[in-house]
Amino acid sequence: MTHEHATHGLHEPHAGSATPLIEFSDFCFAYDGRPALSHIGLRIAAGDCVVLMGDNGSGKSTLLKAICGLIHPNQGSYAFDGELVSEASMRDARFSKRLHQRVGFIFQDSDAQLFCTSVADEVAFGPRQMGLSAEEVDRRVDDALAMLDIVELRDRAPYNLSGGERRRVAIASVLSMNPDVYCFDEPLSGLDARTRAWLIGFLEQLKAAGRTIVIATHDQSLADALADYFVYMGEMHGYDDRPHVHING
Ligand SMILES: Nc1ncnc2c1ncn2[C@@H]1O[C@H](COP(=O)(O)OP(=O)(O)O)[C@@H](O)[C@H]1O
Ligand SMILES: [Mg+2]
Repeated sequence: MTHEHATHGLHEPHAGSATPLIEFSDFCFAYDGRPALSHIGLRIAAGDCVVLMGDNGSGKSTLLKAICGLIHPNQGSYAFDGELVSEASMRDARFSKRLHQRVGFIFQDSDAQLFCTSVADEVAFGPRQMGLSAEEVDRRVDDALAMLDIVELRDRAPYNLSGGERRRVAIASVLSMNPDVYCFDEPLSGLDARTRAWLIGFLEQLKAAGRTIVIATHDQSLADALADYFVYMGEMHGYDDRPHVHING
């Protein structure tokens, strides 16, 4: 099932799906006047696993930031679960808190994500922000550490951990908020072969659990294992025999 539309149109790889969870319409964004996203039309339904592919600089990370409400359009719009995400709506603390809880972002650089003095505090941070009870926070931390197979790192300082361990802590710190959507920016970058294989298996589990997943990656084995469809960004032409859309080109 291949769909291609004009640049200004909306891409609907899953024709007929219900109200999209994520909906970009003619979304444009520029960094200091330099365009990074141009007339993006894209719909992602709940439960979809979408892989973003494209050359360096094609706008993958910028699109993930937009999904998480970290940047806002100069033109056009982005709606999450039917609600407009904009500079104005994000000024409402309750709205922005809720969006950050529902849409998790695992940065490419785990160091930029981790700021607490212990792994347990790092993973507890989100649930505490959500105002959950101490018992519920503890339960979520235990569950997330177990799922990421890092229970023994609980009392360690994140900055003393290996790159692979830090990636697991960063994922655990998002998992503990139990978001609806997971955005991963190059999740396999800088990892050794064993950790990469483990992480692909973990992402497959997350997908099987019905989570909505958006991943920017250059890794073909990850893309093959996970993608319901591909979003090709920029000039890139990929595997036109698979479900895909082209944007930002
Ligand atoms: N913080 C920033 N300030 C200014 N320009 C940026 C910034 N981040 C990205 N860009 C520019 O925006 C474009 C898209 O970048 P990015 O979204 O990081 O692409 P990708 O993730 O596909 O490599 C590039 O031209 C990049 O140089
Ligand atoms: Mg990037």
